[in-house]
Amino acid sequence: MCGIVGYIGSRDIISVLLVALERLEYRGYDSCGIAVSYQGRIFIKKTAGRLFKLKEILNSSPLFSHEEGETLIGIGHTRWATHGKVSDENAHPFLDCEKKLAIVHNGIIENFQELKERLINNGHKFESETDTEVIVHLLEEKIKKDHISEKDFLKALSETLKELKGSFALCLISPLFDFLIGIKKGSPLLCGIGKNEGMIASDILALVGICKKVYIMEDGEICFLKKDKVNFYNENGEKIEKDAQTLDLKVKEVSKGRYRHFMRKEIFEQPKILTENLEKRLYDKEILLGESFHLYPEDIKHITNIVIQACGTSYHAGLIGRDYFERISEIPTTVEIASELISRPFLFNNNTLMIAISQSGETADTLAALRAAKERKIKSLAILNVKRSSMDREADNVIFINAGPEIGVASTKAYTAQIFNLFILALYFALIREKINTEKLNNYLKELKTIPEKIKKTLLLDKIIKRVAKKYYNSPHFVFLGRGINYPSALEGALKLKEISYIHAAGYPAGEMKHGPISVISEETPVICICVKDSTYEKMISNIMEAKARGGRIITIGNENDKRLKEISEDVFYLPATIEFLTPLLVAIPLQLFAYHIACLRGCDVDKPRHLAKSVTVL
Ligand code: AGP
Repeated sequence: MCGIVGYIGSRDIISVLLVALERLEYRGYDSCGIAVSYQGRIFIKKTAGRLFKLKEILNSSPLFSHEEGETLIGIGHTRWATHGKVSDENAHPFLDCEKKLAIVHNGIIENFQELKERLINNGHKFESETDTEVIVHLLEEKIKKDHISEKDFLKALSETLKELKGSFALCLISPLFDFLIGIKKGSPLLCGIGKNEGMIASDILALVGICKKVYIMEDGEICFLKKDKVNFYNENGEKIEKDAQTLDLKVKEVSKGRYRHFMRKEIFEQPKILTENLEKRLYDKEILLGESFHLYPEDIKHITNIVIQACGTSYHAGLIGRDYFERISEIPTTVEIASELISRPFLFNNNTLMIAISQSGETADTLAALRAAKERKIKSLAILNVKRSSMDREADNVIFINAGPEIGVASTKAYTAQIFNLFILALYFALIREKINTEKLNNYLKELKTIPEKIKKTLLLDKIIKRVAKKYYNSPHFVFLGRGINYPSALEGALKLKEISYIHAAGYPAGEMKHGPISVISEETPVICICVKDSTYEKMISNIMEAKARGGRIITIGNENDKRLKEISEDVFYLPATIEFLTPLLVAIPLQLFAYHIACLRGCDVDKPRHLAKSVTVL
């Protein structure tokens, strides 16, 4: 959580930092701040609240005035509070007592309490309740105030790092130096270089438009970034060499374009993303899983069981994946919430395959479970969107879902791209394990190729969904019901609605209703029922009737021409028909749009819902 950024160069530094923070805001947005080093001083502005508030503050009282074209160095932060309430004082950056160092931090310093006590005893004055502030004071103790060589500063830095427990990424500036400092241990950090300028940030999105090359920093690494060169060191202060990669993202890909919200843009991108995935994953009649997939056919034949682990929406995709692996590849599969899995004994064997699913590749719980599997020599495969993420580096195998940057906090396009790739993977496993013949495979692939067009058609429901949303957006509570492969869709529909509209919503397997949850249904309860023509259809109809009999306001998601649904529902969203396995890809669309319109009608901040952050990088 938290987004950190640093810039060195001669552009308008305030604008550069604010644009970068805007792109990082999805990581946390309860407070923000910037600091710039200029003419021997550090100028700083920070506030509780969103970035627009900081912009207003900077407009009414500019940070400082300077000559255009001068090289300046600055840092910025957008916060998701862990230690210390949301307040101006707890917003980053933080300064040391002499105001010669400014720092921004993403992560947690676990031993901050004991360090703080020691520093207070040594006379340091603290201005916040955060864990972060100890770092600058600790460093301050180790450096002479008015002059220090680069070499001695590096030594002080590595001594300081040795005292810090926890995970962190840091960005530091000081008027004592003409460079920007980045440090990574446990939290992501990248260093990018452009033409006579450079940036350090917790996410590649911040570097787009400025940097042409990017260095992925590893744990324990330190960088000193000057405007025309960068030096990397290990935690002992020894110089190291690193290879840069080309930054291939365009500004267009990280902006909203003509859309009001990123979430809406991302919902409408889904046909294109699945078309691109089809092109990448299928060549002639062959399945291609990409160059980071290294499992040999012999390995695949020996898999005894799969354990899928993930969080949130990725977990819901995993539940759908279970159906694919069990029913198509015939491999026993369990699906675990990553944060729960890490506190349980790992009763898996050497022929277990762990599949970690994550859009960001940085979710702390998923990463911890992946690491636990690696320690036990369990083979791992990560299904990821973000390349060069921690899971990309740590998993034995990776399949990318090719969804492009997903910026809205609510995951939409990554979800359908995850389901798509899980389906392809299950087909591949089934082929290798001889559980599927060519004819069946071709039939599946033929239908899969129709999905982008069917999603396009489903997106035309937008206006109808908005109209229906107007009827229900004041309801205090929603129930989502599904069965079989669409039970996870019900969970996902409820999660989408609650995270962006703040309305309580619960997803249930429809057959479980009569074992308790049905008692929540009253005449005010909208009940969204997924009732496509699949093997659970008749049972689903019975469950709808049960909910209706208790006064529930029935909204169904079903197939075109299903007259029965019209008779039993107050509102219906009709989808094109497809095979049962692929229905979740279509069902997701009205669920996403419904949540989106309800949230807009309630005036919620769709892309940045309260209390949330896109990547949850704390355990
Ligand atoms: C979904 O809309 C979420 N915001 C959230 O549940 C998310 O899916 C979860 O935090 C997992 O993230 P990941 O896919 O990046 O690991």
